[in-house]
Amino acid sequence: MDWRINSMEDYNQKYEKALNNPDAYWGDIAKSFDWFKEWNSVRSGSIQDADMRWFDGAQLNITVNCLDRHLKTQPNKEALLYIPNDPSEEATRLTYKELHAEVCKTANMFKSLGVKKGDRVCLYMSMVPELLISVLACARLGAIHSVVFGGFSAQALAGRIEDASCTLVVTNDGGLRGNKTIELKKITDDALAMKECACVKNVIVHKRAGNEVSMKEGRDHWWHDLMKDMDTQCDPEVMEAEDTLFVLYTSGSTGKPKGIQHTTAGYMVWAAYTFANVFQVNKDDLYWCTADIGWITGHTYITYGPLLNGATTVMFEGVPTWPDAGRFWDIVDQYKITHFYTAPTAIRALMGCGNEFVDKYKLDSLKVLGSVGEPINEEAWHWYDEHVGKKKCPIVDTWWQTETGGILISPLAGITKLKPCHATLPLPGVHPVLMNEKGEEIMEREAEGNLCIRNPWPGMVRTIYGDHERFKNTYLSAYPGMYFTGDGCKRDAEGFYRITGRVDDVINVSGHRIGTAEVEDAIDQHPEVIEAAVVGFPHDIKGQGIYAYIIISANAGDNIQKEVLDTVTKFIGPIAKPDKIQVVKGLPKTRSGKIMRRILRKIAAHEFENFGDTSTLLDPSVVDEIKEGVL
Ligand code: WTA
Repeated sequence: MDWRINSMEDYNQKYEKALNNPDAYWGDIAKSFDWFKEWNSVRSGSIQDADMRWFDGAQLNITVNCLDRHLKTQPNKEALLYIPNDPSEEATRLTYKELHAEVCKTANMFKSLGVKKGDRVCLYMSMVPELLISVLACARLGAIHSVVFGGFSAQALAGRIEDASCTLVVTNDGGLRGNKTIELKKITDDALAMKECACVKNVIVHKRAGNEVSMKEGRDHWWHDLMKDMDTQCDPEVMEAEDTLFVLYTSGSTGKPKGIQHTTAGYMVWAAYTFANVFQVNKDDLYWCTADIGWITGHTYITYGPLLNGATTVMFEGVPTWPDAGRFWDIVDQYKITHFYTAPTAIRALMGCGNEFVDKYKLDSLKVLGSVGEPINEEAWHWYDEHVGKKKCPIVDTWWQTETGGILISPLAGITKLKPCHATLPLPGVHPVLMNEKGEEIMEREAEGNLCIRNPWPGMVRTIYGDHERFKNTYLSAYPGMYFTGDGCKRDAEGFYRITGRVDDVINVSGHRIGTAEVEDAIDQHPEVIEAAVVGFPHDIKGQGIYAYIIISANAGDNIQKEVLDTVTKFIGPIAKPDKIQVVKGLPKTRSGKIMRRILRKIAAHEFENFGDTSTLLDPSVVDEIKEGVL
């Protein structure tokens, strides 16, 4: 691909071109993809009007670019290498030709149940090849996929199914993770029993774990039964550039999770472009991203990005610590992984298990390491560099979000100078700005502020599913004409960016985004909880942990903490369980009734000084009581 950046000089030139002449820059890049019809305009609409559009007028199907295109040049290249949970079970390999056939068959299976363009399909599955295949099968038909991470509870699943009015749910009997089986079908059944899920007509169950499940007559179908008769050809649906490709739910600072909506052409170009340039994967390389397809990283950098580039993507079913904390490194050596992309939380967890688990492996196939999902701390960065990369692999610290579709700020492997814990420089087409409290742009080079992006980029979120007003208010209103990321950021004298973390009420727990309001709502469901306030606190492994302050009624029993944990597990899922729950008599509130979270955050972090202005507190004595009881 002639748009691949190959030096710092090349980067500078391309950055300038994308800034000064974006239509020409992105138009040229888009020409290297297959289209049914070319665009009328490269960019149209604006952030101001919340109607950003890319490649308007064009028609395409993303799966033609992920699959069919490669059948001409490399049909027998491995597209997918699948590594099962149990190390004794053999890996599955699918060539581009085989993956194409499986995707077509699956698309035909969905079609046989009436799925058509624009319908929403919920994929609530574990990390099996059929998940990646189902994602692409939806895209083949123009159906909108909504993948829900397997760690969410029945209630959370039901909320997402309802919000997008999904008509089909695809799940597994059970998901295998380490020595555990996650009963996905059972959770799906519980979700579908709720009134929210009346929209669901069919459920397809892929057999993986072999656990007992119940099948509802007329609604539930076994994947293997339906697939038997399916044809291996399925014509790709003709999609308009701005037709929706997928919805993916993510947490915000208020309210229920938002369905982040991405469209076809811009997302495709962005996924392909960023994958090629950040990771610099070559023909014989083997790239492995350890994320789950239930998160955006798995959408863009396990599924679409690698396949659009004709690379081999590795998919792993299991967990990093089973059978032991050397599992990742065992896989790297056994399969000769060259590019390895993971989250700081995994690095920190493995670092904590002891160096003997990593140092016994050669890891000499590795060329590039990546990090994503949360700020990587200095210690973890150096451990990754020394023990995994053996000081010879660049670490690309990639900053981006569900909303950005793909990476926005990151070193380009082997090209950009590295600086530990810095996402370094923006990709061409990305124009970061730091804003101060007053809403003004900070012009000094060395600065700290709220990170915004000026100008739309192709992979940018287009709206929140079913709620365009909320989309505008959340992202485009705080700083008019710009996209507000919700992150704080520093810029150094060289112009390198370092993301410091969320500046809103979102906590990043083990790289998972969790809204404090959501956890509070869940805790409030417990009948004996009168009020709850949730904040994040620094956590050695998870990055941030969840700290809940609760006020309880006189009827609450001794087991209240445990019951609260169960309530959160029920309403959101185990990933949102608070690490600490402190029972308090009151919460620090202003006279107008607003909880002063700033104070609660400080106390949770064991910082007992400099609470700032507390003169507006209704009852300052509660602060002392909370301080005394801190966990
Ligand atoms: C955080 C994950 C620091 C950030 C792709 C962002 C990061 C949120 C980094 C998005 C990084 C992601 N350095 N922080 N390299 N990457 N973040 O939507 O706070 O799950 O806003 O997307 O993760 O999380 P999301």
